[in-house]
Amino acid sequence: MKWVKDLKIGLLGLGTVGTGVYEIINHQKGNYFASSKERAIITKVLVNDINKSRSINIPPDLLTNDFNEILNDEDIQVVIAVMGGMEPEYSYMLAAMEKGKHVITANKAVVSEHMDILLKTAQSNNVSFLFEASVGGGVPIINSLNQTLRINEINEIKGILNGTTNFILSKMTYEGWDFDFTLKTAQKLGFAEADPTADVDGFDVSRKLSILSSMAFGAHINDDMIYKRGIRDVTRFDIDMFKNLGYVLKYLAHSKLENDTYYMTVEPILLTTKDLMSNVNEEFNIISINGNIIGELNFYGKGAGKDATANSVVGDLLYIINSEFKKIEIQLDKNLKNGGISGFKGNYYLRADVKDHDEFSLVLDIIDEYSIKKKMEFSGKKLYIITEEMNAETFNELAGKIKSANINNFYARIH
Ligand code: NAP
Ligand code: HSE
Repeated sequence: MKWVKDLKIGLLGLGTVGTGVYEIINHQKGNYFASSKERAIITKVLVNDINKSRSINIPPDLLTNDFNEILNDEDIQVVIAVMGGMEPEYSYMLAAMEKGKHVITANKAVVSEHMDILLKTAQSNNVSFLFEASVGGGVPIINSLNQTLRINEINEIKGILNGTTNFILSKMTYEGWDFDFTLKTAQKLGFAEADPTADVDGFDVSRKLSILSSMAFGAHINDDMIYKRGIRDVTRFDIDMFKNLGYVLKYLAHSKLENDTYYMTVEPILLTTKDLMSNVNEEFNIISINGNIIGELNFYGKGAGKDATANSVVGDLLYIINSEFKKIEIQLDKNLKNGGISGFKGNYYLRADVKDHDEFSLVLDIIDEYSIKKKMEFSGKKLYIITEEMNAETFNELAGKIKSANINNFYARIH
């Protein structure tokens, strides 16, 4: 792209992220926009409701609810897509690239599901498709991963990839807040997805893990292929027990590539207090990647929220302005096998709420069938058990039997 004076941008969405983008470019001006002689101008903003009251000052004539006003405006060279959901945003991104416009997005649902087609569409139309903000909010992981992949093979990715659930677990652990109140606070702070079940049930994390692992392992691994288990069932009793045992609960994403097989999981994991990741709190994220030459690299920063995410989006805009996008190449053509969760093992923590003696005996019988109990405690009709080391698939089978007996429980592997 030739950098023209007064680069015109169409912004799709003016919610948490869109507002942040608008502010950096127009109001706070960000360093680049304050000093450059050239100007980047947002000339149209697509929203659902043009009459809605907004938290920022924006000329009303910029707002539209007709995407064609952006698509058919030949002066608009860049489309920033920060609406959320799958459709119509996916179709809008394709249409914009087919019209020769560069696309930047924070939408991990779309990137995770369609990254191969989006990248091919960008290539065939000689435009850029950039998605730094789709993983890790403000953490510059996509560009760093790309850079690392130029020299290294990456065989393992691990991290805390969701700000909302990390905020929930931190507040429950250190401030005694309950789950529902903490989730509502995360929504008010703009961390949560429009439908927060994506955060607490693992879809948001598995989409991010799908994006990173696809790039790292060289094959498009759809988020449907990733095992995920949410954090809804964790209670104050569990959190107190973790403190007594010297562990911290974190919602971790983990993927490994061994030969041609990948193993991936998104689940609550218990870490010792000495583990680097156990000290990552609030809405912060951490992403560890392991390269065959560089070894382990960790990336840390705010994983959600207006300013952090908008910073990543605008960072992508600067790549386009500086014509650096052509350097980014992502290969997705390898043929890999899905090994599910069979590549993970560890001791397990289990809490089961047993109403009577029969349920108590049933839980113990189920555990005895699979594992030796290393530790056991019973208090207030709650049975707490630490098992010996078990394969993740085997423990899930055990937990499935407890669940089918309608016994409330929560479990987590110890890392
Ligand atoms: P949001 O606050 O819900 O804002 C969505 C915006 O898009 C609103 O302005 C809405 O219009 C507009 N919109 C939604 N559907 C539309 C449609 N069909 N047609 C026209 N306009 C539409 O969402 P957000 O938190 O900014 O998130 C946006 C995207 O960034 C999502 O993909 C999310 O996953 C991703 N993301 C968010 C964060 C974060 O911390 N929030 C971080 C990283 C990535 P109205 O204002 O008129 O309702
Ligand atoms: N809802 C997401 C989170 C936003 O909480 O991490 C950032 O992707």
